[in-house]
Amino acid sequence: MSALRRDRHELLRLGVLTSGSGSNLQAILDACRDERIPARVAVVICNVEGASSLARGQNAGVPAVLLSHRDYGSRELYDAQLVAELQRSAVQLVCLAGFMRIVSPVLLRAFPDRVLNIHPSLLPAFPGLHAVRQALRAGVKVAGCTVHIVEEGTDTGPVLVQAAVPVLEGDDEAALAARILVQEHKAYPRAIGLIAAGAVDLVPGAPGRQVRLRAPQGDPTRALSSPPLEGER
Ligand code: GRF
Repeated sequence: MSALRRDRHELLRLGVLTSGSGSNLQAILDACRDERIPARVAVVICNVEGASSLARGQNAGVPAVLLSHRDYGSRELYDAQLVAELQRSAVQLVCLAGFMRIVSPVLLRAFPDRVLNIHPSLLPAFPGLHAVRQALRAGVKVAGCTVHIVEEGTDTGPVLVQAAVPVLEGDDEAALAARILVQEHKAYPRAIGLIAAGAVDLVPGAPGRQVRLRAPQGDPTRALSSPPLEGER
């Protein structure tokens, strides 16, 4: 059993990788600023010029680096430069937040079990692109988001936090994605907080490793159903 331990007296140094609007980045920045999690964003790295995530980093007084993948001949060369930037900022935990690239073993080996991702589905359902569209096409009644530790593969790795939302009649992709995003903004800081608190153990599982949490589990009778079950609202 391996615990993702850390020195409890210091703020966990985060590197957040983004490609787009950066609303999850903003949720993480806000949670750090408000001291809801013992962490600080040490650097924001974005691979897309003009993305608003860069401005969000700058507005928070965090170094914000544009690192375009177009300037590198291979995924590995790009990821090596990512690693250099992250190490320059003494990053301890890497958070992929809407980072629209598959990361290579170059990054994963530099930060073993220290790369997180958020995905807008209840993994292992609907990995890959257009997860919300996939959920709607499948006709599921409950959707949600997952924060997981990144392993090689697309949206695979031990699950840290999941949050579920109802799928409503008449939902289109934008409406459901917006409802999921509200939960993403809570789930990502929660996952980072668990790691920062040293509350995460990795244990063998089937088929892959699993996360065991040393944290309160809440009311074991609570449930989210869609539609509501008898007696529920
Ligand atoms: C989120 O839905 C996240 O789950 C997915 O990409 C989106 C990023 O949104 N990986 P934002 O850039 O954080 O606003």
